[in-house]
Amino acid sequence: MNKVIINTDIKKGKINKNLYGHFAEHLGRCIYEGIWVGEDSTIPNTKGIRNDVLAALKQLKIPVLRWPGGCFADEYHWKDGVGPRENRKRMVNTHWGGVVENNHFGTHEFMLLCELLECDPYICGNVGSGTVQEMSEWVEYMTFEGESPMANWRRENGREEPWKLTYFGVGNENWGCGGNMRPEYYADLYRQYQTYVRNYGSNKVYKIAGGANSFDYNWTEVLMKNAHFYMDGLSLHYYTVPGDTWNEKGSATDFHEGEWFKTMKKALRMEELITKHGTIMDKFDPEKRVGLIIDEWGTWFDVEPGTNPGFLYQQNTIRDALVAGVNFNIFQNHCDRVQMANIAQTVNVLQAMILTEGEKMVVTPTYHVFDMFKVHQDAELLAVDSTLGVYEYNGETLQQVSVSASKNAEGKVHISLCNMDHQNEAALELALRGINVDDKNLYGAILTASSMNAHNTFEQPDEVKPVEFNKFAVTDKKLAVKLPPMSVVVLTIQ
Ligand code: AHR
Repeated sequence: MNKVIINTDIKKGKINKNLYGHFAEHLGRCIYEGIWVGEDSTIPNTKGIRNDVLAALKQLKIPVLRWPGGCFADEYHWKDGVGPRENRKRMVNTHWGGVVENNHFGTHEFMLLCELLECDPYICGNVGSGTVQEMSEWVEYMTFEGESPMANWRRENGREEPWKLTYFGVGNENWGCGGNMRPEYYADLYRQYQTYVRNYGSNKVYKIAGGANSFDYNWTEVLMKNAHFYMDGLSLHYYTVPGDTWNEKGSATDFHEGEWFKTMKKALRMEELITKHGTIMDKFDPEKRVGLIIDEWGTWFDVEPGTNPGFLYQQNTIRDALVAGVNFNIFQNHCDRVQMANIAQTVNVLQAMILTEGEKMVVTPTYHVFDMFKVHQDAELLAVDSTLGVYEYNGETLQQVSVSASKNAEGKVHISLCNMDHQNEAALELALRGINVDDKNLYGAILTASSMNAHNTFEQPDEVKPVEFNKFAVTDKKLAVKLPPMSVVVLTIQ
């Protein structure tokens, strides 16, 4: 039995809507085909951006979008991607598949995408192979209102008004593809580069330093010690990889119970990571001014058989949905420190929301979790006390259920629950303090499936989709809930 007390009268802080952020890189078919098809495409589009993907993403109320990488960011030279498209430089995407990058999707196209999605842009600059001047001029190009070489060039390229640039990352994975640096060296470079990321006019840039890889706590320690005064956010990357090596990550669809269990176990490690990196940050920043920005997270499996290994294309099952739900609950429960998270990646890459094939499009189980959980955006986290039951497999145990709850501005309470157990129902006793609950003010939605590898295809797009949930009974301010195996549930109390 899982026993949970939801204290609807004890608020623990605001859940930043940016926890539901996204990441779209020039990688495989994410930007090209997945988002950008060009104005002359037969696929219906708005100034080159495909309409079907746009409409699906708008539904999710994406708050922030990170671009252009990833590893691509530290090889990207923004000046190649502005001006008339026919004149833009064709280059090699050395990191991802060695394919031609024609630079048709550049700064103007990205900012248009953000405008259409009504989300904030989060641009990642090039420290690994770029210069301070190049980074500084990019910010000037985007945000300077008056007369200057870069602002004038922006106008020549068709954009009169500066854009609002909200978030800027100073490099990506500078411990790896972003330059193989030591933290001491990067900390100094970060201090230098960020100096020239100027605030022009009323534009105030939230500066994000490139953070640690998973369990590299020394990176966080050195960055915080030497540079925390100069940053608004510090990033962290962690991927859920069921396999033991990068050469054998495991299949996205063809897996057994043991791999399911291991995936849940590894997803839950996000809790440990946030706690430990957060503790180091607390040492230098007890006020929690610097946000922990988990700007790459999600599942990473072997690519779909027959696809380009450099394109990171994978299917997405109910297992991915559980990983998303569990991570969201963890992020929300740490909303005092975690200020943004960006799933990798939006379309056709890793744990995607959307898969496309030419003009066809399908949304994934992960998409549905983003849709169900969006009710938490900018709501107040509620205090939850829980005694959780056990999910056991082959002598090993995990918590069976993951939970978080929030109250929005209209006073609606949302409780999100995940049953990670692949074969057993989870019985829950929910005690609700500070709110009356009855059959009439309670509504539930569930995402589940009858097999571990259930997923949506272009032929069967609705194999995994949310439906109404009513396996609960109300008695004396208590809710008895039965969560089916492998399920994600959101309860709403009006
Ligand atoms: O998301 C794919 C890649 O994973 C990113 O480019 C990189 O930052 C990370 O290693």
